[in-house]
Amino acid sequence: MSDVPVTVALRRATADDLGFVMATERLPEHESFIGRWSADRHGAAMASEDFAYLIALAEGEPVGFAILRDLTDPHGNVGLQRIAMVAPGRGLGRVFLASLLDWVFRETACHRLCLEVFTANTRARHVYASLGFVEEGILREVVRRADGTRVDQALMSILRPEWLALRSAD
Ligand SMILES: CC(C)(COP(=O)(O)OP(=O)(O)OC[C@H]1O[C@@H](n2cnc3c(N)ncnc32)[C@H](O)[C@@H]1OP(=O)(O)O)[C@@H](O)C(=O)NCCC(=O)NCCS
Repeated sequence: MSDVPVTVALRRATADDLGFVMATERLPEHESFIGRWSADRHGAAMASEDFAYLIALAEGEPVGFAILRDLTDPHGNVGLQRIAMVAPGRGLGRVFLASLLDWVFRETACHRLCLEVFTANTRARHVYASLGFVEEGILREVVRRADGTRVDQALMSILRPEWLALRSAD
């Protein structure tokens, strides 16, 4: 685990954060790991009860963002649509993700928080697993890249009882 002595605060995004979100998801180093939405697509999601946009703050400055989807799902299956840090490699994303888990399970009726991660994204898979996400399986050749190649994603999730158990063990 990283020994970065940093706390990451979390707040709901507003329309003013859209430029930050779009610039961060468009960082060249993130290209093979996350999707990029248009301003219209983000605007529609931000306006929907089904989505929550959260901004990670370190010393008051935005350092990353996350998008949650399916918040109105009647079964409590919430999806982590996207998470990205401006400057990965400092352990801030890990701290942000831990705060995000607390937020999701405290502030919403989420029972199962799930995500899809490219199997080649070993860094993100490591961080998710270290925070309690369990790999459920592989979505084989589920995404077609611009060059026509097809790549796998791992499906991962953490359940509310698992989060509670980890929380009480802290
Ligand atoms: C995934 C992400 C949010 C994690 O944020 P972070 O905490 O800043 O990540 P770091 O680079 O500091 O690495 C965190 C951990 O991964 C480990 N790691 C780094 N590169 C790795 C690799 N190639 N393979 C496995 N583990 C790796 C680090 O050693 C560290 O381990 P620790 O927490 O046990 O000390 C961030 O890397 C990011 O924004 N990535 C680009 C977007 C992305 O991939 N999003 C996820 C899409 S599903």
